[in-house]
Parts: sequence; structure tokens; C-alpha cells
Amino acid sequence: MMSKQNEQTPNVASNKVNLDELIKQMTLDEKVAQLIQLAVPFYEGAHGDGLITGPMDSLGIKEETVHNSGSVLGIAGAEEVINVQRTHLNYNRHGIPLLMMADIVHGFKTIFPVPLAIGCSWDMDLAEKSAEIAAKEAAVSGVHVTFAPMVDLVRDPRWGRVVESTGEDPYLNAEFSKAFVRGFQGKDLANDMDRVAACVKHFAAYGAAEAGRDYNTVDLSDRQMREFYLPAYKAALDEGCEMVMTSFNTVDGIPATGNSKLMRKLLREEWGFNGILISDWGAVRELIAHGIAADESEAALKSIKAGVDIEMMTACYVKHLSELVENKEVDEALIDEAVLRILQLKEKLGLFENPYRAADPVREKEIVFCEEHREVAQDLAIKSCVLLKNNDVLPLKRDHKIALIGPFAANNDVLGPWSWTGAKEDAVTLATGMNNKLSGHGQLLVAEGCGIETGTKEQWQAALEAAQDADIIVLALGEHSDMNGEAASRADIRLPHIQLELVRKLKELDKPMVAVLFNGRPLDLHGVYEEADAILEAWYPGSQAGSAVAELLFGDANPSGRLVMSFPYSVGQVPVYYNAYNTGRPQGAPDAQVRYVSQFLDIPNEPLLPFGFGLSYSDFEYSAAQLSSDVITVEESIKVTVTVTNKGSVAGVETVQLYVRDMSGEVVRPVKELKDYRKVALQPGESKEIEFVLSENQLRYYHSDLTHDSDAGAFVAFVGPNSKSNTALPFRLEK
Ligand code: GLC
Repeated sequence: MMSKQNEQTPNVASNKVNLDELIKQMTLDEKVAQLIQLAVPFYEGAHGDGLITGPMDSLGIKEETVHNSGSVLGIAGAEEVINVQRTHLNYNRHGIPLLMMADIVHGFKTIFPVPLAIGCSWDMDLAEKSAEIAAKEAAVSGVHVTFAPMVDLVRDPRWGRVVESTGEDPYLNAEFSKAFVRGFQGKDLANDMDRVAACVKHFAAYGAAEAGRDYNTVDLSDRQMREFYLPAYKAALDEGCEMVMTSFNTVDGIPATGNSKLMRKLLREEWGFNGILISDWGAVRELIAHGIAADESEAALKSIKAGVDIEMMTACYVKHLSELVENKEVDEALIDEAVLRILQLKEKLGLFENPYRAADPVREKEIVFCEEHREVAQDLAIKSCVLLKNNDVLPLKRDHKIALIGPFAANNDVLGPWSWTGAKEDAVTLATGMNNKLSGHGQLLVAEGCGIETGTKEQWQAALEAAQDADIIVLALGEHSDMNGEAASRADIRLPHIQLELVRKLKELDKPMVAVLFNGRPLDLHGVYEEADAILEAWYPGSQAGSAVAELLFGDANPSGRLVMSFPYSVGQVPVYYNAYNTGRPQGAPDAQVRYVSQFLDIPNEPLLPFGFGLSYSDFEYSAAQLSSDVITVEESIKVTVTVTNKGSVAGVETVQLYVRDMSGEVVRPVKELKDYRKVALQPGESKEIEFVLSENQLRYYHSDLTHDSDAGAFVAFVGPNSKSNTALPFRLEK
């Protein structure tokens, strides 16, 4: 045990520290210890009273390593952070403070909708605002860095982590990536104590795991990577994101964490990223299981050479790097480079001047989960829900007797995965939200009907009584939040059988039925899509779930969400996504044969619900779609205009979408690519002309030799309400 320094004033390296000088004063072991990230229980002063010895033995590390470590994983709470930091500084010979990192993905205590839901808002300002609020609550609670945004492009709803993404489109993913980074970091991270450093993840292409099975192989061409999977990471870095986290998966046969082509060549050299690269949990040591490292020493060697600065929660670095340096297998300059990046972030965050940064137990109580934040969360939840079907049964009538039936009727499991700092007990359930709306009007009968995956006769009987007595049935169905997120892949993406049974039996009562879905992935909606007269996709709406959904159900808010991920007809279609290639035998082509085309014998090719889809209580009509010219050049852009009219009786917001198809590329090109969109608010009867500018640089793509350019030739612009229904406007690019 190292002797404790003065208990009173922590021993912080002088705030005018010269980092190069500091590194020179550090022993090799002290430098290497900066490269490990340990979880909270390793630290004295932690609420779990720092079970120092237990966890240490689990990793086989010495106490001295903990006292020289560089950062903490999963810590939050002003008091705890202050205790841990103060204790640490009393041990650390150089007074180097800890970086406090945590997963603050869609909210800290005020939990926002899950990112897949936020994606469906198509609202970058609100997305940014949600990250800003999350940062403010996290910063005052002592967090310095958040492991977000997660920007992995996804096409496979079997993968549990689709819930953390913003969907299948590279353009939208990049826009959301920038918005989240802006929200977390602000414009002046060094001086704005209400912000935290962001860490974009998981680099790279984690969302392309084969069969949607988590941690599985990813094997993509460089072109696929650059065209679809990499843009959102690059966008985060262009927005100034401070850190990058490696992904668990292989990329072209080499696990990302040990992949020098991906990390050194692309991330550091081509993209010029010089911030901290942190491994995902255990990913350094997993190089052994992957089969590119014989032991922990080789895992450490390959990771440090790939440019991984921090090893999260395994000890290959601290156990082997010093020896690798002494044996001249690793140049000490690589260690110094990694340590310098870590110290630079600590300096940028002002930790050498104030190691507690914004941690403030008093202010924390005023800011965290305050009314203002919850109002934003409710607004975003309202805008993230997607109306998937409505045969004139929504909005609900207040004077009706309503039976609210289903496992999510009064269930607070509505925060979704990665909401560990939030509290389910603080969440507004659907029953509470609807009762608040109905107070003094109609009647709400609530019955669970069944659990999420199991049910009893008594539950069914109670539901039957409620339903028989009601004018309309509102079903509250979905997936347990543990059925989504990390290590939560599902091969059968329908609702659990017991819930489909509940729907089937209630359908026999022949009453109007509305289904509200609380889930974290596009589902196979067999068993509910035909049976329900209306379906509202609520995802996991967060702290204000019940209030937001009730606003929509009763028409006090008009649904405006649009899908950012296709809903497959069935899992047999997966992966199914809008920006696919046409193939040489597309179904429905003018010269298509009946049988010998690209199709299934037993299901349609088209998804049940396409990317960009969403209904409204308004009725939006498109007209007068046109181009300012049918020729575009490098110098001359063209305008795409369309008139949108609200023919309905209620005000609403339409998301007008602009897609483009390159009819003939040097490589095959997607049948549609989203290039721009506008959210437009329209009063009943109101029309607005929407204008897009289309420029040559939006027509560029990666050629077979990876040059990024456009080709002269024929194109078609499509403008409309989603990726399937739109007006085609042909034009040419001349060069
Ligand atoms: C997990 C996740 C990653 C998270 C990290 C720290 O394994 O893959 O997204 O940030 O560990 O909790």
C-alpha cells in the first residue's frame, strides 16, 4: 500500500503542468497504468466502498496499478466522484487525476427515448438538446466522458443493439451523430462545465454482425464500409468528438481492437484523429478468443500497435507492456503517445486545475431530473413515436370507456437499455398518463391480460371482463427492455407468443382495438398488424413515456415520427433495407419473368413498412413536384420543389423526403439514397412549397478504386412522404 499523502488538500499535479515533463517524471509502470480503465468497485471512496481486493484479484493486478490508473468506468454521482477522486489523488505520486467515464447514451436521470426512437423524430435540434441535457445532468454528477453517441449503421433487427442506433441510412446517421456530439460537448468543452467529452462508438461497423448475432463476424468490402458504415463515425470526428471506442467485431478478418489498417491507417492517418482510442469492455484480451493473439502479451502488443490507448477492464497492458518495452518489442514512444493523449484530455477538461470539475452535490439536486428537462423529454418522446396504422380509431374519445390491456399497461419498464442512471420508478406509465388525461371524463379500465412472456388464467379473466365492458381496447404490448441492447439478439422478432394469444382472443370480442408497442427493434408484426385497427410504435419513450403516449392517443399531439429502419414482413426477409441494389433480375421490371427473378416463393420482397414511413392525424397531399432544370453540372445545382397540402382537419408536421438514384454507376448504386428532408408544419387546409437544392457533390460515391466522385449520366430524384411512395423526376449530370 502506498503511503497516503496529505488527507486534506489533494495532491494534484500543478495546473500549469507541462505534460511532456510530467511524462518524463513517470516510471514505465506508472505510464502503463494510465492506460487501464477500471470499473467503480476498484476504487476506495466508491459507494460500493471500493471492494479493492476482490475485483483486483479478478484481474490479477496490484493495488499500485489501481492507484496509478488513468480512468474509471461507470461512475456517476457528485459525492461518489469527489470521494473517489480525492482518495485517488492522495495515493497518486504525481497527482494525476482520474478521468470519470460512463454510458450516458439517451439521458442521465431524465431519460429520453432510446436512440432508435430519437432517430424517428428526424429532429436534429431536439436530438442535440437531449444530449445537452444529458451532459448537464451527467457533468454536475461528476462525469467527464460519456460513451456515446453510438452511430453503428444497422440493417438487421435481430441484433439487440439496433435500439441504440439511429437506423439504416448513412446520411441520417451522420446528421444524428453530429447533433449528439454537439449536444454532449458544446462549443467550448474546456470551459463549459455543463458539457462532457463524447466517445463515438463502436468503431467500426459493429451493426453488420452476421445474422444479427451480437459480437459476430463482420465482413464487408472497403467500399461498403466507406459508402454505408463509416460516414457516421467520420461525422462525429468532424464535429470534434474527443474519443473513439473500438468495436468487438472483426473488420475484414481482423478484430477492430487489433486492426492497424482500420485504426492507424484509416482513423489516425487518413482521418487525422489524434484523440483517445479506448477498447470496448475486454476487447483487448478478446483478441485471444478471436484467434489473432496467442496470449495476453500478444494481445497487448497488437492493440498498442493498432493505436488503442486505453484498455477497458482487462489487464493485458498493465501485465505485459513494460516487459514488451524492455524486450524492445514495443517502442516506449507508443506508450508515451497513448499517455500523452490521456493527459491531454485531462488537461482540456481542466482536471489538473480542478480534479472535481463540475461535480457538485448541491447543484446536482437542483438540476438532475428537473421539470424543464422532463418537458423536453416528453416533447421528444411525442415526436419519436410513429403511427403505423390507423383505421379511423385514433384519436381516442375522452368520454369512451377504455380498456387498457397488456403487459405494458402499467409497466415502468419504458426507459429502454443503457438507462442505468435513470430510475424506472420515476417513469410515467401508460396507465398513469391516460388517467391524467381522462381525469373527470370517461373511464379507464386497466388489466395486464398477461405478462411479457408468460400469463395466467386470472390475468386473462380480468382482461376479458375489462374488455367486455369497454367501448374500445387499447393494447399495451412489447418486449422486456432486457430483450434489447447488448447481447440481446433475437432470431424470432415477433411479439412474445403469449401477447399474440392475448390479441387473438380479444379480437374475438369484435371491438375496436389500438395497439401501442414498447419495443427496441423493428418487429415482425404478424399477429398484431392485421388484428389491430391502429398501431402506435412508442419504442421505449423514457421517463415521460405514459404522458407522451397519452398526448398522442387522445389527439392532444399529432404523431409525426418517421421510421429510420424498415419493418420487415418477416424475419426471413432480413436484412431488408430501402437503399438496396436493384440486382440483374428485379421483381416487377418491365421484362421481368414470373419465376426467374430475385424473389421469395413464400413472402414478398418489400418490407411490411418502409424506411421513412409514418402516418399522421392530418392528411398530407403532394403536388406540383418539379425540377428547376433536368441538367445538373458541377457548377450548376438544380432545385427540387414540391407543394404539400394538409387536407386534414388537424394541424400536423410532415417530413418531406428527397431521394436520388444514380441510374448507371461504375459500380452498382442503390435504388434510392436519402439526400435531404424537411419537416414542415401545416395548419388544416394550408399548403407550402418545399424547396431542395441538389448539387453535384451529393451525387458522389465510392468507385471500385475507392475514389469518391460523381459520374455524368442519368439520375432520378424522388420526393415524397417516405422511401416507397414518391414522385420520380429524371435529370442528367453533365461534366
Ligand atoms: C459495453 C458496450 C459499450 C459500453 C461499454 C462500457 O460492453 O459494448 O457500448 O460503452 O461496455 O459500459
